[in-house]
Amino acid sequence: MSNVREYLYKFLVVGDLGTGKTSIIKRYVHNIFSMHYKSTIGVDFALKVIQWSPEIVVRLQLWDIAGQERFGNMTRVYYKEALGAFVVYDVTRPQTFEGVRKWKADLDSKISLPEAWGGGNIPVVLLANKSDLIGEGHGQHANPTEMDTFCKENGFIKWFETSAKDNTNIDEAARHLVTTILGIE
Ligand code: GTP
Ligand code: MG
Repeated sequence: MSNVREYLYKFLVVGDLGTGKTSIIKRYVHNIFSMHYKSTIGVDFALKVIQWSPEIVVRLQLWDIAGQERFGNMTRVYYKEALGAFVVYDVTRPQTFEGVRKWKADLDSKISLPEAWGGGNIPVVLLANKSDLIGEGHGQHANPTEMDTFCKENGFIKWFETSAKDNTNIDEAARHLVTTILGIE
């Protein structure tokens, strides 16, 4: 089986405080969820190994960056050599959507793709998280046309409504980002 190829990709998960970054990663990697909120301090890591196809194994290194880090100045180290990112906001707190542009600008200013791949911004996916709370008096569904336009104007490759609680669209979002990077490489 010497024709199996292995890829190691570093992905960042960023977004304002309490938007669900850690919960999304825990759901994706360990398939668990807790309502208990324990804010991340600094950065945390998780590894997800995916048998992508019979010939391809992808090791995803997920960097879970604390929401408060946008106001710190250690982020350049965290961002180093990342190939993709998720920016997360909380659909029940519109002010966290304001943070989305700032996180995207921060990513664009601090990382780019390897020179060998032509440089340029790394692919970034926008996640509208806590979609399970929509319709229970909190938040509302994103307008697909408006979100598509927002993504186009702000350089996001795609957006997904996710729920770490209900396990909605998290695999899909990760698969989209991996597919994009496999296509660039
Ligand atoms: P920081 O580390 O402080 O930046 O926060 P975070 O973005 O990592 O958020 P975290 O995953 O810790 O989640 C914050 C709170 O939101 C917790 O109480 C979670 O249980 C809750 N939460 C996260 N995702 C969801 C979701 O999809 N649905 C619901 N209902 N609650 C969620
Ligand atoms: Mg966290």
